[in-house]
Amino acid sequence: MSLIKTISDLHTWLAEQGRNSKTLGLVPTMGYLHEGHLSLIRRAKAENDLVVISVFVNPTQFGPGEDFEKYPRDIERDYQLASSAGADIVFNPEVGEIYVPGASTEVEVKGNIQKRLCGASRPIHFKGVTTVVSILFHIVQPDRAYFGQKDAQQALIIRKMVRDLHMPVNVVVCPIVREKDGLAMSSRNIYLSPEERQQALSLNRGLKKAQGYLASGTEGCRTVETLKRIVREEIEKEPLAQIEYVEIMEAETLEDIEAIEPFRSALAAVAVRFGKTRLIDNTVLQWREDYNAAHAAEI
Ligand code: PAJ
Repeated sequence: MSLIKTISDLHTWLAEQGRNSKTLGLVPTMGYLHEGHLSLIRRAKAENDLVVISVFVNPTQFGPGEDFEKYPRDIERDYQLASSAGADIVFNPEVGEIYVPGASTEVEVKGNIQKRLCGASRPIHFKGVTTVVSILFHIVQPDRAYFGQKDAQQALIIRKMVRDLHMPVNVVVCPIVREKDGLAMSSRNIYLSPEERQQALSLNRGLKKAQGYLASGTEGCRTVETLKRIVREEIEKEPLAQIEYVEIMEAETLEDIEAIEPFRSALAAVAVRFGKTRLIDNTVLQWREDYNAAHAAEI
């Protein structure tokens, strides 16, 4: 296991490993690793001969006034954690290695899929993500790349980019990893005060309440307005929570829907600020009369 900073060292290493006769998984991250990231590395290790994890805090996906400078960084710790989860290489380039001087090429997935939800308040964010992920795909040329459902919109956009541009990579989306109390793991959780941390549990609670109500089969339980209200009311109970959005949309296209339709998935997604910290969470809602009725009690 080693830490590699340059593209040429990475290519040398890949050649030494006999890359052409092996399968290669890539896990792109911005570091400050937690169990969510490690779950992607473990999955990649189970499905590929070689696993590269990139740790790169990508400046182009942060808007003015966002936390690029202060984003938590600890490459030593990341290296240890990535290694223990089974990564073969940590690729940790400098900004100038990824963006050559004068670079002016951007990759952008247009349309609702990138304009809604987080795209509404972070207008340049997803263009920065798709640009850096394309660059990483070109550098590493993985067979599979691993992303988390935690960033559901990001995963949808990357899937679409890969399809639209015929990129020869399989995108694998892995489930959200949560703390024992239900908070979705995030590198940004360390910004939260103990009080904010406690109140942040309302995101998952609200989403679960909506899921439970949908499963109850009550008259009108599939109505999106009602389900959104349930999530919103749960979060609004917390005095420090400032809701940016609570949305329920068609799960692939992010188009508006009025009700959860049988056998069609919907994405329930929230973004909430606690002080300067912005948290996101989501769940997939599905309605199948037979299934939901039978499992209502478990949800
Ligand atoms: P980062 O926030 O570091 O996340 C890296 C990957 O880990 C993403 O695919 C994200 O969805 C996944 N992840 C984060 N928290 C998770 C959790 N609790 N459970 C499961 N997966 C989780 O997302 C980015 O970095 C960047 O935008 C990146 C794709 C690296 C481009 O710069």
